[in-house]
Amino acid sequence: MNPEGRARVEAWLEYFNDLGISDFCLDRASSAVEAARTPVEPIPAAPEPLLRPARVASSVVDPNPTHVAPVLPVIKSASLFAANERIEGDTLEKIREDIGENCRRCKLCEQRNKIVFGAGHPKAELVFVGEGPGHDEDMQGLPFVGRAGKLLTQMIEAMGLCRDAVYIANVVKCRPPQNRAPEPDEIETCSPFLYRQLAVIRPKAVVCLGAIAFQSLTGTKPSMSRIRGQWLEFRGIPLLATYHPAYLLRNPNAKGDVWEDLKKVMAHLGLKLPAKR
Ligand code: URA
Repeated sequence: MNPEGRARVEAWLEYFNDLGISDFCLDRASSAVEAARTPVEPIPAAPEPLLRPARVASSVVDPNPTHVAPVLPVIKSASLFAANERIEGDTLEKIREDIGENCRRCKLCEQRNKIVFGAGHPKAELVFVGEGPGHDEDMQGLPFVGRAGKLLTQMIEAMGLCRDAVYIANVVKCRPPQNRAPEPDEIETCSPFLYRQLAVIRPKAVVCLGAIAFQSLTGTKPSMSRIRGQWLEFRGIPLLATYHPAYLLRNPNAKGDVWEDLKKVMAHLGLKLPAKR
């Protein structure tokens, strides 16, 4: 669309926004009105089986999942132009190349050791999104390899999956000093790379680990206790937030809540619950 046309459409949208009408500004497939009328269009199946059980004896992929895709509420902050931001022929390798070996786009570069791009199956049906690398991740260049990472691995295995069948990424690719939360300018600078990763992988579900991941993908700031365990849609991808594993290390009582959330993800992916031992 040319700039003049785009400006006209934006003015038109603003006008309807002022009237309190906003849902129509998303692409047709994800508009709330359409969503209310029709089931969510299924995401095409990945070309090869990705959800390999971690332990075959304790869990198997359900061959006849009875799960019916829920009609998902639409995230209103998703941009009308989001679809146009997709890069033709994009790959994880190109994204990594575009970040560069010595990215200096934000102040996190000053103290980082290694860029933590993300790791896992390039066609994963399930992606976990964390906040940003910690000390161990910064040293190794890999996501979730510290204490919280070990807990995340346990969570993934409890779902009957192995870690290399899923993809794990962060909102920011460089460690915030002293493990502080990433700041808005850092998130704004780095999150387009995450959006591209998600657009390339096109998983069947994204699990946001903690509030920062949820806020960064949805542009909303509700409390975790309110939104965890609820399905939303991010650019056509079902998304659910749960507590960050680091929070679970401090609050082990919340593990039950997280397990409930993960069971919803398993149902969505057609995975059977592990047999009780
Ligand atoms: N916490 C995160 O959010 N991401 C990591 O990679 C490690 C810890």
